[in-house]
Amino acid sequence: MWEKIWKTDKIAYGGDYNPEQWPEDTWEEDMRLLKLAHIDTLTLNVFSWAMLQPSEDEYRFEKLDKIMEMAKSHQMNVCLATSTGAHPAWMARKYPEVLRTDFTGIKRKFGARHNSCPNSPIYRKYSVRLAEKLAERYQKYDNIIGWHISNEFGGECYCENCEKAFRVWLKKRYGTLEELNRVWNTAFWGHTFYDWQEIVLPDRRTEHFSENETMAQTISLDYKRFNSDSILDCFRLEYEAVKKYTPDIPVTTNLMEGAYKGLDYRKWGKYMDFISWDNYPSNADSFSKIAFSHNLMHSLGDGKPFVLMEQTPSAQNWQPVNALKRPGVMRLWSYQAVAHGADAVLFFQLKRSIGSCEKYHGAVIDHAGHEHTRVFREVAQLGEELAKLGGEILGASKPAEVALMFDWENWWAIEYSAGPSKYLKYLDEILNYYTALHRQNIAVDVVGEEDDLSAYKVVIAPVLYMTKPGVDERIREFVRTGGTFVTTFFSGYVDENDLVVIGGYPGKLRDILGIWVEEIDALPETKENSFVYGGQTYRAGMLCDIMHLEGARSLAEYQEDFYAGTPVITCNSFGQGQAYYVGTRPEESFYGRLIEEICQKQQICPPAETPLGVEAVERIRDKEHYLFVLNHKEGVEKISVPVACNDLLSGKSYQEQEQLELAAKGVAILKWAESE
Ligand code: GLA
Ligand code: ZN
Repeated sequence: MWEKIWKTDKIAYGGDYNPEQWPEDTWEEDMRLLKLAHIDTLTLNVFSWAMLQPSEDEYRFEKLDKIMEMAKSHQMNVCLATSTGAHPAWMARKYPEVLRTDFTGIKRKFGARHNSCPNSPIYRKYSVRLAEKLAERYQKYDNIIGWHISNEFGGECYCENCEKAFRVWLKKRYGTLEELNRVWNTAFWGHTFYDWQEIVLPDRRTEHFSENETMAQTISLDYKRFNSDSILDCFRLEYEAVKKYTPDIPVTTNLMEGAYKGLDYRKWGKYMDFISWDNYPSNADSFSKIAFSHNLMHSLGDGKPFVLMEQTPSAQNWQPVNALKRPGVMRLWSYQAVAHGADAVLFFQLKRSIGSCEKYHGAVIDHAGHEHTRVFREVAQLGEELAKLGGEILGASKPAEVALMFDWENWWAIEYSAGPSKYLKYLDEILNYYTALHRQNIAVDVVGEEDDLSAYKVVIAPVLYMTKPGVDERIREFVRTGGTFVTTFFSGYVDENDLVVIGGYPGKLRDILGIWVEEIDALPETKENSFVYGGQTYRAGMLCDIMHLEGARSLAEYQEDFYAGTPVITCNSFGQGQAYYVGTRPEESFYGRLIEEICQKQQICPPAETPLGVEAVERIRDKEHYLFVLNHKEGVEKISVPVACNDLLSGKSYQEQEQLELAAKGVAILKWAESE
């Protein structure tokens, strides 16, 4: 599948370039500099709608024509954007319906970007028309390697058009008002609807105290689904439009934030030809969190090509404090993306603008305007390395024996829940398990509730609160046939409509886990419980399940409070497999312990053992192995190499067990071929 989609013969290198913001006589010098940095890919036309369509009846492509010609004559590949991430001012003035209404009910005026109502017929008409015109006009360019629809889709709209569309969406989902009233549990607080027109959007004026606090969880949940679908429709309409003329050019849109909460990216991934995303970690993010984001994004594609669409070469502009990327970090993080499956390393931005809010955002070409900067040198060095790597690594996959379940609808439902604890954050719980796996260099696929589990040895599903139809069946089958399943507190509570599964927690997972959870105690931040596991005492916080064994073994019991002596960690033998339950939020070291134990039992081995802070990730193509070793630490680190291999970056050869020394922020890509 990969070869049919991705057409470059090396890891693509480049990024967002906006020559339309500059006088034409500066372009040639830009090309000289970009070539010097071994850049071969330009992401063009991301925010040019106002330039391309100055009024309702007028389209002007002359400047973009020149830019496309320039790219071609300099042998640059192009990732061509459709420019629909910000509508022109004339459109907002003439058709105010394209403007969004925000969560508080404020109707926006023209300004900023990512600001169009996804259900505005005018917005849809003109965005699709523009995409189609671009495809028609540039279809002959054989250097277009991908379509970049719009930009960082996201946000919400609460306008009247959206309200109308919501009713249509609901009718399609539920058929009758009777069913809608049942699913929304509208008998509560007298919400019964007798006419579709009575239904309004759940926002600050209606069901919400604040963005995450709603009085009607299922209505809010359905709004999230609806909003994600509405915006996805905009993507899909443009997708169809460009495919009319360029069926062979793969289409993407740049996803963001790793796990961006607003859109159900797993559903989106199914409609994208390749997955791309923008990696802008905050200063507080650990390298395991960045790895999780890559892992999640890569998994969305289920084998489709994966691209790092944006990263800053150095500083960002939108954090409170925008630290420079230290020497070596840009290179390290670029290879981290490649290690996790990326076949392109692209930047925002190739050239710093002189005005507006991104003028101090890092760029390859700085305001100084020449190549004699630290950032330029680092970009050029990486460019040279990627050029030397040529076709190595491209398309190599990342097989995993462990799946971590992460599901957007579950996320929405958990964080809309009033009780048991507002400190419960889904992503934190996911990251606790992911980080433990990642520290041990265990390869992971991040899967959704609907995904097939049969290829894995271990499935970990932290806080599987919403068990959608079929998921319990898949888990039951997985464990019955020998799989190891791990889940936690606050799992199995509700169905896909956020309605409680009655008969005792954890609902449909109860027989698999062999427990009944009678109560759940939420601990204030200052309070803790504890338990002993494998001879070691661990602190337990936030939530404590009080449960009864129904076939499972207790592996640890609480030490304090009125439920002291009752089970907190359990394991149930079910069919040929095992189902673990972690009834609390333990301190960090516990996760490592549990993961190590499970992986040992299942004979799941990391590709290499490394000291803490050094990441080892493997990609495999046919019989060729590429082991990325990434030193995230500030000092020199050593590993002993697992097999005889060559480092593609340094050119050095290593014998099995030989010591490999990595400088601070250093990277090695160890290659070997499997013997027949
Ligand atoms: C996003 C956008 C870019 C740019 C960068 C800045 O990723 O897609 O247009 O604004 O952020 O970090
Ligand atoms: Zn709207």
